[in-house]
Amino acid sequence: MLQHDVIIVGGGLAGCRAALEIKKKNPNFDVGLVAKTHPIRSHSVAAQGGIAASLKNVDPEDNWEAHAFDTVKGSDYLADQDAVEILTKEAPDVIIELEHLGVLFSRLEDGRIAQRAFGGHSHKRTCYAADKTGHAILHELVNNLRRNGVTIYDEWYVMNLIFEENQAKGIVMYHIETGHLEIVQTKAVMFATGGYGRVFNTTSNDFASTGDGLAMTAAVGLPLEDMEFVQFHPTGLFPVGVLISEAVRGEGAYLRNSDGDRFMEKYAPKQMELAPRDITSRAITLEIRAGRGIHPDGSAGGNFVHLDLTHMGKEKIMERVPFCWEEAYRLVGVDAINEPMPVRPTAHYSMGGIPVNTDGRVRCNSTELTEGFFAAGECACVSVHGANRLGSNSLLECVVYGQRVGGKIADYIGDRLFPEINEQQYLDEAKNRIGQLLNQSGNLRIHNLRQQFQDAMSDHCGVFRTEATMAAGLEQIQHLKDQYNHLFLDDKDIHWNTELIEALELQSILKVGEAILTSAYHRKESRGAHSREDFPTRDDQTYLAHTLSFCNDTGVTIEYMPVVINRFEPKERKY
Ligand code: FUM
Repeated sequence: MLQHDVIIVGGGLAGCRAALEIKKKNPNFDVGLVAKTHPIRSHSVAAQGGIAASLKNVDPEDNWEAHAFDTVKGSDYLADQDAVEILTKEAPDVIIELEHLGVLFSRLEDGRIAQRAFGGHSHKRTCYAADKTGHAILHELVNNLRRNGVTIYDEWYVMNLIFEENQAKGIVMYHIETGHLEIVQTKAVMFATGGYGRVFNTTSNDFASTGDGLAMTAAVGLPLEDMEFVQFHPTGLFPVGVLISEAVRGEGAYLRNSDGDRFMEKYAPKQMELAPRDITSRAITLEIRAGRGIHPDGSAGGNFVHLDLTHMGKEKIMERVPFCWEEAYRLVGVDAINEPMPVRPTAHYSMGGIPVNTDGRVRCNSTELTEGFFAAGECACVSVHGANRLGSNSLLECVVYGQRVGGKIADYIGDRLFPEINEQQYLDEAKNRIGQLLNQSGNLRIHNLRQQFQDAMSDHCGVFRTEATMAAGLEQIQHLKDQYNHLFLDDKDIHWNTELIEALELQSILKVGEAILTSAYHRKESRGAHSREDFPTRDDQTYLAHTLSFCNDTGVTIEYMPVVINRFEPKERKY
């Protein structure tokens, strides 16, 4: 059995930043970090547009209170305002610290860090490295991990959280290359496992974003929070769904329908293309529904709208958003200097996740905390984003809360002993699970079941929802869950068995999808990204509350938890 003072699951921004902080606080702490890809291939690397902070380099009127207000308003007042205060107050310092770690931000003429406009933000406060900001930050963090002696287990798939007597004691992990199983015994487990975009059929997320951390948390009987709030990014490249950064609109691009109109004028007359994502994604969906979408031959009635950069000029496009230009050119053959890009909403981000307090301690219900279990980043819900996240606040959350939770873990483990674990029991359980998958005699292939599931989630729980569509969706996914035992794996080997990993990941997305759909079904109002056509208005009387969903053998049960409102009273959102 392996032993580490702390084991961090996930090699993206939140996990790396936490690991670094623990080592900074006490270089003698033994920190392990495990990830199913190499850390620099974590999905954080794909973050494009930037990271928000009221540095005031471009807009001297900005301050943390304005950033906090924009974030809370953007969240449709569901964000916990104590958590937002920490996020926005600490933002300027974490940017400077990243710069000192070596991150190469884009610059103003005078050498200070450049900042651009982003949706829902009232000031130009998004710091960036062209349109490869996640890449720039993650590479430096991973370099720093190595320098600071963090043990990295890359390409290990974590199968289980070991959680007994309300305490996280370790993990069970599987080495993808060799098929070797290991138990890690630890004083604290931190999950930083990222999002679940692969629950849907069209997503900006990488193939690894399968919600494994959320599924493992739910599997030990712990709740998930606010799972109904799924962010659909307005500008996924059609038809592939990859991200075309909001930075493109931040730098001046227009959205146009089949009539050539800048239709955002109807939906958000002041902010136009820089309205928050929930509003912009709904606007695009409504334009497409009304027959003002566009076909590939340019005629009306198709499934996408245009993102028009042509007035921006080659120099600006290539300096500020070169990667977006390249994506459109490489993937769909569009040269955005001369012609508009085809875009439509794509599943992008999870506002909900593993419920945590502002120290990253995982909750076991609305009032109590677990022991030894922490989470941060997209997999967690400290609720800084509430019902709708503002662009460029997610990298910020990863860094601010990664650092903060790392510090809290260092304090927490100081006088803790290693817990007792029955190693053999957990090894046997994991071996049996793998054996069963490899040997079962079904006739259904993974890609077939996964595609049916992703289609069901996209059809029944997309940008707009109704009770009838969600009820049908729940019935359908119940049926698909029952099919899991009929999967047949062609690859029976233990070495590099990616089919086996896909089967394990499929179990994660099935569980997470059911939590999303059930939480959405029960919230009978429209708030942020959760848009019910049968309940089109916000209902603060009943639903100004966080959803807690508990997955069990018979389905998902729902409870609610109060929202922290200590600064900004809920109002109608206008943009
Ligand atoms: O559009 C983007 O560049 C995405 C940024 C974000 O999700 O924060």
